Amino acid sequence: MSVDTLSPVKSSPTPKPAVAEAPARTEVQALFDQYVVPLANRGLTLVRGKGSYAWDDQGRKYLDLGGGVAVNSLGHAHPAIRDTLARQADVLIHSCNLYYNEWQGRLAQRIVGLTGPGKVFFCNSGAEANEGLIKLARKFGHETGRYEIITTLNSFHGRTMATLSATGQDKIKHGFEPLVPGFVHVPFNDLAAIEAAITPKTVAVQIEGIQGEGGVFVASPEYLLGLRELTRKHNLLLLWDAVQCGYFRTGRWQSYQRILDGVPGGEDFAPDAIAMAKSLGGGFPMGAVWIREPYQNVFTPGSHGTTYGGSPLACSVALAILDVVEREKLAQNIEARGEQLKQGLQALVGTRGIKEIRGYGGLVGMVTEDEPASVVAKLTQAGLILIPAANKTVRFLPPLNVTAEEIGEALRIVESALA
Ligand SMILES: Cc1ncc(COP(=O)(O)O)c(C=O)c1O
Repeated sequence: MSVDTLSPVKSSPTPKPAVAEAPARTEVQALFDQYVVPLANRGLTLVRGKGSYAWDDQGRKYLDLGGGVAVNSLGHAHPAIRDTLARQADVLIHSCNLYYNEWQGRLAQRIVGLTGPGKVFFCNSGAEANEGLIKLARKFGHETGRYEIITTLNSFHGRTMATLSATGQDKIKHGFEPLVPGFVHVPFNDLAAIEAAITPKTVAVQIEGIQGEGGVFVASPEYLLGLRELTRKHNLLLLWDAVQCGYFRTGRWQSYQRILDGVPGGEDFAPDAIAMAKSLGGGFPMGAVWIREPYQNVFTPGSHGTTYGGSPLACSVALAILDVVEREKLAQNIEARGEQLKQGLQALVGTRGIKEIRGYGGLVGMVTEDEPASVVAKLTQAGLILIPAANKTVRFLPPLNVTAEEIGEALRIVESALA
């Protein structure tokens, strides 16, 4: 843990909370203790960031390769995001979806250009984008009485009632029963299990190309090609949750392009709809759903909507990020940095409690003998921020513009801190 010259954040003059705390609690932590619903076990108090680095309230500097859970596509405080936010705030922040706005149209055009023929609608988060996929499937199957969606065990699709019902992890659902009906869960990467689960009520299959929260499990090429064939044969929508594994994180716009790279038949693969969020807004909350032709007109005016989705501010930020990604060739960068990271970590497998390395580019999982929370705590203490996942996996989710030096530094920290 290095300490730079930054002074710690000045504490506000807010009165001390009434609840007595252990002396080590800071004023910010005490505010959370008293006023914030404890939805998470929190660690650091970050006060600022720059690029791949972040600083805490004690002035300690960290290499942040957790990226705010795959959100900070350009790292912290990128000038393109900062300047666009400021400029657009001076022009038009919000209008609402009763009107046209130039930035939404241009961003949809860029997403269609990157993905394939179809159309896009915008929302505000990954859960909402997945909710959009689920509603698309329900609407698509409505007239024929089909509504069941097959999803996979160990998946994660969000925290709304429909998306947690779609999620294949019991811990996410516990306490929220009765769940939204119409979801069937089968093992991931198991085509026969999907085939066996299809009934006359089935309308769609929903998967992540790489299960992120579940522990960085990558879909196999055979699974994807087989799934596409099977869904076509049964007139089922293939719904793709790219909230974590999309947005160039694998070195390609979408993870299926990476997984199927060089695989015969892979170039023709496309899902029917894709949920996006996280890195798309680089920290500005936004989501999007791309819908392939001919399903783009399943939703009609009034059948779905959101107040904030696709605001001028959100879309102008997303456009600015895309410009930087393309201009600076960040897809290629993250692919190369991911390889560097994987090779470095691979060399440590069998030592330091490291068992296996999975994933691609900016979505790499390190499987450990110890619980991921304790590994992450140890690494944080040593100055490296990572993100825990299920199945004893610790995730590296660096910004797309992470440098070779920063990856080298991360590897040195892992090597020494876990020794
Ligand atoms: C694959 C996947 N889908 C959906 C979500 C939910 O996104 P959000 O937290 O923006 O609602 C996440 C969040 O981690 C995710 O990883």
